[in-house]
Amino acid sequence: MEFQEVLKRRRSIRTYKPDAVPAEAIEKIKTAVRLAPTACNLQPFKVFFVTNQELKDKICKIYKASWLSAAPAIAVVAGNYAECWKRLEGDPIADVDCAIVMEHITLTAADCGLGTCWICAFPRAEMDAAFGLKSPWKTVAITPVGYAERQPQERPCKSAEELFEVIS
Ligand SMILES: Cc1cc2nc3c(=O)[nH]c(=O)nc-3n(C[C@H](O)[C@H](O)[C@H](O)COP(=O)(O)O)c2cc1C
Repeated sequence: MEFQEVLKRRRSIRTYKPDAVPAEAIEKIKTAVRLAPTACNLQPFKVFFVTNQELKDKICKIYKASWLSAAPAIAVVAGNYAECWKRLEGDPIADVDCAIVMEHITLTAADCGLGTCWICAFPRAEMDAAFGLKSPWKTVAITPVGYAERQPQERPCKSAEELFEVIS
């Protein structure tokens, strides 16, 4: 798919068909994850691609949405806040690294015709416990991965002038 088309196709999908994610798409997502840039190339993250029903049920008890449980897979991105690069003021950059990883996942999924939806509004400690993550590891974001049942409506975007300014 042409890259600009991938960007347009990626939307937050909140309706899923039960059809499994094809192995070829999982391979593409795996490659995209490995290609994600991270500060100082420290790669302080781990992605769990969950198709196991028991673990999916556990995740869906933590973030309760019927559309999440309808999805055949859930990708979970966790970051290591000790092994990541720190900003000059000392703040760990793991959130940024993990956000890039998640965006590689969502865009690759869109390229494969699959839907995703960034989710961060979950109780973090509970999600960490579900994956046996202990400090300095923390879950950053999760997303369902699967075929959309319905496409979402168009969403409002701020004007280009508000969001982007060329300073020459
Ligand atoms: C960092 C981040 C966190 C988000 N967390 C959630 C969430 O917890 N639950 C949810 O339903 N959508 C969540 N979203 C999806 C946004 O609501 C969505 O991206 C936004 O409304 C724009 O719509 P679009 O993705 O279809 O372009 C999140 C998106 C981002 C980028």
